[in-house]
Amino acid sequence: MCGIVGYIGDKRAIDFLLDGLTKLEYRGYDSAGVAVNCGDNIFVEKAVGRLSSLKEKLKNNLPVGTVGIGHTRWATHGRPSDLNAHPHSDCHKNFFVVHNGIIENYLQLKEDLIAKGHKFISETDTEVVAHLVEESYHGDFVLAVRDVLSKIEGSYSLLFMSKFHPDTLIAAKQDNPLVVGIGKGENFIASDIPAIISFTRQTYILNDGDIAVVQKNSVNFINRQGLPIEKKIFHVKWNAAAAEKGGYEHFMLKEINEQPKAVRDTISPHLNGKVTFNELNWNEDFLNNINKIYIVACGTAYHAGLVGKFYIEKLVRKLVEVDLASEFRYRNPIVDDKTLVIVISQSGETLDTLAALKEAKKLGAKTLAVTNVVGSSIAREAEFVINTAAGPEIAVASTKAYTTQLILMFMLALYMAQISKSIPAAEIERLIKLLKKIPAQISETLSDVEPIKTFAQMYGFNDDVFYIGRSLDYCVALEGALKLKEISYIHAEAYASGELKHGTLALIVEGVPVIALATQKSVYEKTLSNIKEVKARDAIVIGIAAAGDSELEKYLDHVIFVPDTDELLIPLLAVVPLQLLAYYAAITRGCDVDKPRNLAKSVTVE
Ligand code: AGP
Repeated sequence: MCGIVGYIGDKRAIDFLLDGLTKLEYRGYDSAGVAVNCGDNIFVEKAVGRLSSLKEKLKNNLPVGTVGIGHTRWATHGRPSDLNAHPHSDCHKNFFVVHNGIIENYLQLKEDLIAKGHKFISETDTEVVAHLVEESYHGDFVLAVRDVLSKIEGSYSLLFMSKFHPDTLIAAKQDNPLVVGIGKGENFIASDIPAIISFTRQTYILNDGDIAVVQKNSVNFINRQGLPIEKKIFHVKWNAAAAEKGGYEHFMLKEINEQPKAVRDTISPHLNGKVTFNELNWNEDFLNNINKIYIVACGTAYHAGLVGKFYIEKLVRKLVEVDLASEFRYRNPIVDDKTLVIVISQSGETLDTLAALKEAKKLGAKTLAVTNVVGSSIAREAEFVINTAAGPEIAVASTKAYTTQLILMFMLALYMAQISKSIPAAEIERLIKLLKKIPAQISETLSDVEPIKTFAQMYGFNDDVFYIGRSLDYCVALEGALKLKEISYIHAEAYASGELKHGTLALIVEGVPVIALATQKSVYEKTLSNIKEVKARDAIVIGIAAAGDSELEKYLDHVIFVPDTDELLIPLLAVVPLQLLAYYAAITRGCDVDKPRNLAKSVTVE
């Protein structure tokens, strides 16, 4: 996720650009840049790091031009650097573009452009767009942009500026948000409403396929075929703070609801008929040389690793051990050059995980980082890196990072199974078909939160809550318990259902809430008997079940159903009600949901 801004009017563009980027930093903050049309030249300034680095560079050198574009980046292709920061331009610096999203066919387009003599200076997918405009331009700016849009594939919101057309900015939207703010003798473009709300509340919200041709006294919309589109003005009623959260009360709820798109964006670059990881380029020899795999992480990422273990052991039949990063390096782990150590980290900066990674490398292991931050310390330290496309996760409680980690681990296991032929091709094909449905099924799981809100209000003041499950349900139970603990401060514990009778059952007394996950068909009967154990002690049991399960509700107080799918994939759905339960319990208890006490978003200390 990145932040885009544009200004066209009679005032200094830079003032809106910097103000707007400040309001959009939550969308990305690893580098930033601006381009301002100053008549005889285009002023460009970029800086790696937070927006403050760019402001520092501009301090005594603010451009006076009245047309400009700006960008704050969340890297997907090309690590954070001045060169990779947007805006990007063509060879002759006549066209400038800022972009939010992923151009999936950029490699092929880049090869074709290089063959035609174009010179690239960045590693980004976005720079390809600027050179494409140069190729397509024959005097008509709008026509050139339309031609470019017909060539690129993927998800994007784009804003174009040209030296030849200082009176015009062109915006295009596909899958990623873009709004136009309507001023008097000036107009504003931004990824999101927070950037413009202090300048105007009159906006146009772009839909997929829309192209906006913006001048200081006019905004005209056309479709990809160049035909005019009529759009209604949307009057923004939100206050600025609410706008940053997209109208949600908290970042956590916004990020829970961003999961369908985050999972879809994580899947799409690695799926074209089969699963691909160009970043890995592994082969049979590489996998044959691996005789043990560790997955090492902390917190929620560790819980994703526990699920990843199931995926790799079931689909690839290789031994996997999952370890807490803070434990791994202090127990003299058995690691050599035939070991693959996979570290998972949303922030890519968790010191425990970084230290474990360095220890693994010192012992000769091959290392793979699964991170959500391109160019992070862990990403730079690992030999191989694959990225989730969750976008910035602001809430301390990790949600969309977790589900994108799960889907990436699932695709990694499928990728390894494709190479090693450890399962039949037909089974891989079946699982890929189910994988594609997950984003929509997460949306379905999010569609009715009322029952969960009610449970949170009914049981949110209990001192103890238990989560139980077997197999993958136990992995998800651990994540659900952590969510509840860290934002509602309720003492929540997760137990393998079969483990209850070995001690914990002593704590199950009348009225204790137990969240029982029962989505794993392979262990369903055993799980059901464990649920009966706790019901026999008069616990209040809320079940999480797959749609179509008519058995569970005979024994439980409440059941929350999630769409049915293969039991390997159902954790991506079962976790959603647990995230929401934690969220609404925290609300019920008046807790600070996004910034819970004692915790930090990224733990960069041991
Ligand atoms: C998750 O909700 C917590 N905020 C925490 O456990 C987190 O998952 C852990 O600190 C690991 O962070 P990382 O993924 O950035 O390495």
